[in-house]
Amino acid sequence: MAKTSDTARQLAQGEERGKRTERLWARSMTAILLATVGLVVFISAHWGWHPPSQLETIDPTSLHQGGEFAEGNLGTLIAPDGSAVVRVVAQQYAFVPSCVLVPAGVPVTMRVASADVVHGFLIEGTNVNAMVVPGYVTTVRTSFRESGEHLMPCHEFCSVGHQGMWARVRVVDAAKFPSADAKVKGVSCAR
Ligand code: CUA
Repeated sequence: MAKTSDTARQLAQGEERGKRTERLWARSMTAILLATVGLVVFISAHWGWHPPSQLETIDPTSLHQGGEFAEGNLGTLIAPDGSAVVRVVAQQYAFVPSCVLVPAGVPVTMRVASADVVHGFLIEGTNVNAMVVPGYVTTVRTSFRESGEHLMPCHEFCSVGHQGMWARVRVVDAAKFPSADAKVKGVSCAR
């Protein structure tokens, strides 16, 4: 008789322990979830960050035929306020232009579109690191403090020629930046 009640007590204790552990687990998970959501809301609102998946869409099959990513528009355009807008097309297995020319010390907006598959867009020694997904325009804002050269490799495997897909970014003194001619709008250092 005593043995039966012992067993019953042990069972009840075990169940209570189990419930406590479960409650602790559920509370921890809720706290982590709320902290994550809070962090996302904070950095979006406070720092103006947004997820890399862009809201701007573009038809990857007709990039070259006209519009923003037509050949003459690729490269760097200087806006009236002195900031630069760089347009680049990523395709198997090259970036166009293959040498991006930017002025030092001004805000630079990079706009990149893929003509085929997913590519990577990274500029060594800077905070620029994004994916280029066909159908979307990847927009990255940055600035280059000093003149010099940076490598710009594709860092998303995009098939057999991936390792050969890279370009350069040449940063020059803003005063020496060439002005665009009438025929070609975008300036670059590609030959
Ligand atoms: Cu493009 Cu790897």
